[in-house]
Amino acid sequence: MLTVVFVQPDGTSEAHPVAAGATVMDCAVDSGVAGIAAQCGGGCTCSTCHGVVDAHWFGAVGEAEGDERDILEFVPNRTPRSRLTCQIVMREALDGLVVHVPR
Ligand code: FES
Repeated sequence: MLTVVFVQPDGTSEAHPVAAGATVMDCAVDSGVAGIAAQCGGGCTCSTCHGVVDAHWFGAVGEAEGDERDILEFVPNRTPRSRLTCQIVMREALDGLVVHVPR
């Protein structure tokens, strides 16, 4: 199992397990992380799984592309490191990934 660390707007953090091949959104939903609603279930259509990748990890995760980038343009509190967590597939190189939950 791999781990994703979610940091809430108040600075509290929680680490949760996730299998390789699952998404960061899967991890958040399975673990009941507040602030990641994921209303479309990973279909890349709702943006309610928005997360901000920690600066240390952004190079490994990479920027949004295609439909994801188009959807993010409508997210008012997006940042240069914003991603839809349903589009981040976990792999060994991302073990320990830190994602900030937007306010
Ligand atoms: S869960 Fe809807 S866009 Fe990610």
